[in-house]
Amino acid sequence: MQQALGGRSSWLSGALLLAVVVLLDLVAAEPKLVPHHATIVSRASSNYTFVIAGGGIAGLTLADRLTEDPSGEHCKIEHLVLTYLYLVTVLVIEAGPFDQGQDGILVPGAFAPYLYFWPNLVTAPQVGLDNRVFPAVCAQVVGGGSTINAMVYLRGTIVDYSQWEALGNPGWGWADLLPYFLKSENYTRPAASLAREANISWDETTRGHSGPVKYSYPNYFYPGSANWWNAAKSAGLPPIQDPNNGREKQGIFAMPSLLDAPSMTRSSARRNHFDRVAGSRPNYHILASNTVSKVLFRGKQAVGVNYLATGGGEVSSVYATKEIILAAGALHTPQILQLSGIGPKKLLKKFKITVISDLPGVGQNLQDQSTLTIPYTFTANLFPNSNSIVTNATYNAEQRALYDAQNPSAYSIISTISTNIASLSLQDTTTDYKKTTAKARAQDPARYLPKDIDRTVLEGYKAQRRMTLKQFEHAGAGIGNLHWGTANNALIYHLKPLSRGYVAINSTDPLAAPLIDFRSATDPTDIALYVALFRKNRQIFSQPSMQVLGPTEISPFGEQLQTDEQIANVMRQTINPSNSHQCCTAAMLPRKLGGVVSNDHKVYGVRGLRVADISFWPMEISAAPTATMYAAGEKLADSIKDEYCLDGHC
Ligand SMILES: Cc1cc2nc3c(=O)[nH]c(=O)nc-3n(C[C@H](O)[C@H](O)[C@H](O)COP(=O)(O)OP(=O)(O)OC[C@H]3O[C@@H](n4cnc5c(N)ncnc54)[C@H](O)[C@@H]3O)c2cc1C
Ligand SMILES: *[C@@H]1O[C@H](CO)[C@@H](O)[C@H](O)[C@H]1NC(C)=O
Ligand SMILES: *[C@@H]1O[C@H](CO)[C@@H](O)[C@H](O)[C@H]1NC(C)=O
Ligand SMILES: *[C@@H]1O[C@H](CO)[C@@H](O)[C@H](O)[C@H]1NC(C)=O
Ligand SMILES: *[C@@H]1O[C@H](CO)[C@@H](O)[C@H](O)[C@H]1NC(C)=O
Ligand SMILES: *[C@@H]1O[C@H](CO)[C@@H](O)[C@H](O)[C@H]1NC(C)=O
Repeated sequence: MQQALGGRSSWLSGALLLAVVVLLDLVAAEPKLVPHHATIVSRASSNYTFVIAGGGIAGLTLADRLTEDPSGEHCKIEHLVLTYLYLVTVLVIEAGPFDQGQDGILVPGAFAPYLYFWPNLVTAPQVGLDNRVFPAVCAQVVGGGSTINAMVYLRGTIVDYSQWEALGNPGWGWADLLPYFLKSENYTRPAASLAREANISWDETTRGHSGPVKYSYPNYFYPGSANWWNAAKSAGLPPIQDPNNGREKQGIFAMPSLLDAPSMTRSSARRNHFDRVAGSRPNYHILASNTVSKVLFRGKQAVGVNYLATGGGEVSSVYATKEIILAAGALHTPQILQLSGIGPKKLLKKFKITVISDLPGVGQNLQDQSTLTIPYTFTANLFPNSNSIVTNATYNAEQRALYDAQNPSAYSIISTISTNIASLSLQDTTTDYKKTTAKARAQDPARYLPKDIDRTVLEGYKAQRRMTLKQFEHAGAGIGNLHWGTANNALIYHLKPLSRGYVAINSTDPLAAPLIDFRSATDPTDIALYVALFRKNRQIFSQPSMQVLGPTEISPFGEQLQTDEQIANVMRQTINPSNSHQCCTAAMLPRKLGGVVSNDHKVYGVRGLRVADISFWPMEISAAPTATMYAAGEKLADSIKDEYCLDGHC
């Protein structure tokens, strides 16, 4: 049936006659085709308009928006608009299961993300980090990262997106994205008294209230967060009004959190883009616990996918009349592409995979926002702090009871962290920022990349490097975060790496892990920035309002480490290469810059295939990814509706 409507041209020609036939036919066939509410299916039963691989943030945002007008496709002939009873149907195939609503998922203070980590993913030995090997952490659950992440909800800055745009992507500036940020979200204001006491401020003009993604602020804060706030201020970091208004300057702020405010529970994509609409969407299906193994092509046209149970089993196929959309995240989308014959020719040949599109950039350009933990002891730390839930059973029980009665409680805060943070530009971090930048600029960009890097990928890297170095001199670009959880650790997040890694298949078995190499800190400038951030952290801890707590930086760090080299050596033994913000492995860049997708997410060299997940980012931003992924999902949904004249978009 949907085949008959496959291309717009085919039904534009015989529109009127066809309309009647389609209408009658679908009305008759509909009860068999699809149930009357969104459905968790155990097997794909028919063909769909769109098949989405991966039910994370991007996948579920798209599935929700593409199914929201079940009357579907509209046909405009001159001034006459005909609406067919043509159902847009969407199938999401997600490798992980539905969560069970455990406390570890829903209750921030009981945060237990490991419930749904992707199993058996490890990095290659990290040559920049003392050859250490790490688990590569990403989600395997309906909702993807949003179901298990730390709920930090931050947009990038004006500079971030304008540089994406300058890399050859019209339509990706701040002004283009802002309407989608607003559309995606529903911000709940904190109580005025809490806002005053906890230094929570925001710019009302850039906060949305009518979208599905709920966020607010924890309704509690630890007293030590004030000591840190005042110390950061006296170390020269100013409070900023709103981290999410494009911020031309960096500074300190209260962290917005993906909380459904009335219950202080997590607002995940599963809840806000599936559960919310499940009762009214016969055309929205999710097949959980199944892994997409391959995209199927007819010539260069993507027509379907193969999939199998994530635990192993028989391979099945399902077909899409319009498009296949990959939303499997930065570690798995390149794997699916490569298994499907889209990727570096040499790699595909090695595994005897027929080349559909030779795209050297698939799997390249891997980035993350690595982290460093600095342990401290205190002689006079304040009670309560983020460790009290763990060490004091009375306090724990008291706070849990308060939370369950919907009163202010430490359980509204993700465990082990605090409620405020600093975002720093390089000039906020070190007075040497011009020297650091000049040194990096003088370096041959290819110097620390793998020797056999593809020429176009190298050109793309050079362009990105030029942009990143401009950011190093820009007050509006965050290069790092500093955080103190109010207990035993300070944290550094490095936001803008110059090092680049890759993801590559290691087998044609779709259930086998790909090779993952972040190549973290292979470019020495990354370590230089870390050292600068580390010194800034020390400066904060040396201010009177932190000193009253009696902090001592302890092993493997400590006072004995004074030179840059001493500090860097310990860092190479302690940096964690991933904050699970992996990105950029199917980059939105021109093909001559090693790009994989165009500015509307279409994979080069084929038709009917897009990449929706964070793989499409060209570079990391001055923030965590979630807010931008929800907005990008909204933006892509609109451009797909425009293209196929869906839901009134003609
Ligand atoms: C532990 C953790 C903490 C984090 N903390 C934060 C935070 O505080 N703030 C923030 O902004 N970001 C955070 N992130 C990052 C953020 O959640 C991700 O960047 C974001 O979810 C990426 O969205 P996505 O749609 O690209 O992919 P994801 O949300 O990762 O979704 C991809 C989905 O595809 C599925 N999949 C993969 N391969 C296949 C396949 N072959 N077939 C079918 N399905 C497949 C996966 O199971 C997954 O559910 C965190 C992530 C993790 C894991
Ligand atoms: C689904 O699509 C495939 C390939 O386009 C086609 O061969 C098949 O007949 C379709 N099946 C159904 C149930 O529509
Ligand atoms: C926004 O969130 C609040 C709090 O959960 C809720 O009461 C309100 O109905 C939501 N608004 C919309 C438009 O969904
Ligand atoms: C909030 O800011 C004020 C003024 O700078 C400061 O006195 C107070 O300690 C801060 N409190 C917190 C919780 O940050
Ligand atoms: C443990 O928590 C209780 C309840 O908040 C508190 O009264 C007590 O002082 C705490 N004990 C310690 C050692 O901090
Ligand atoms: C890659 O494949 C080789 C050969 O099958 C195997 O020995 C190795 O363990 C694999 N590496 C990873 C990281 O899975």
